[in-house]
Amino acid sequence: MGNLLPHRSLGSQRKVDSMTYKIAILVGSLREGSLNRKIARSICAIRNDGLDCSMVEIGDLPLYNQDLETSNPPVQWTRFRDQVQPVDGVLFVSPEYNRGIPGALKNAIDVGSRPYGQSVFDKKPGAIVTVSPGAIGGFGANHQIRQACVFLNMPVMQQPEAYLGHVSDDSFDRDGNLKDGGLKDLVTKLAHAFHDWVDMIHRSRAILADDAADKTGQAAGQRAHA
Ligand code: FNR
Repeated sequence: MGNLLPHRSLGSQRKVDSMTYKIAILVGSLREGSLNRKIARSICAIRNDGLDCSMVEIGDLPLYNQDLETSNPPVQWTRFRDQVQPVDGVLFVSPEYNRGIPGALKNAIDVGSRPYGQSVFDKKPGAIVTVSPGAIGGFGANHQIRQACVFLNMPVMQQPEAYLGHVSDDSFDRDGNLKDGGLKDLVTKLAHAFHDWVDMIHRSRAILADDAADKTGQAAGQRAHA
């Protein structure tokens, strides 16, 4: 089962300053000059005060084969699972391949989801961003990833929807930063919304855990005085 609380416990603080959350980013493109990778970097840079991001390598994962799910699975699977397990949230940033999820990303999702009952994605808040030079912005892939997230039991951010179309190398300056304009405005909105989404999920869980602990304490107190 995945973590219920963030890496830094919220404790009983119901009102605290903005928290920083550990985020695993899975990029669906293995290409060095990937537009998706550049957008992922931009999201992290825009909200680096609240999102502590690490890009998790997926290109070296052996294709999922249940026969390899032994007490000694492939080391790349273990490395991947160990990197995703402790984070507070997962951000998928992916191209669309033939109107669907790139195989490398689907394989990573499958690897992280097993062994049964030990998924590293369970209950982790997530967001899905698809990026394409085309007009539709990877809508098909976006919703296929979303469909997997339903089964993975991940609360996924709904808005703003992130089908980023007409993205090209020209959208970025020579240092890889987004140029001013509508795309940068949308990515900025996304970065803030994702932080707030992860924050809301973890803060709500902390409050529920506090309330449950209070009730347990009260019940124990009543029993002691009975
Ligand atoms: C594509 N591309 C693409 N684009 C799209 O909008 N819808 C699609 O279905 C596809 N299909 C597709 C299949 C394959 C095999 C490739 C290689 C490419 C184009 C794709 O969006 C473009 O190459 C992006 O630049 C890929 O993302 P990265 O690598 O720049 O992050």
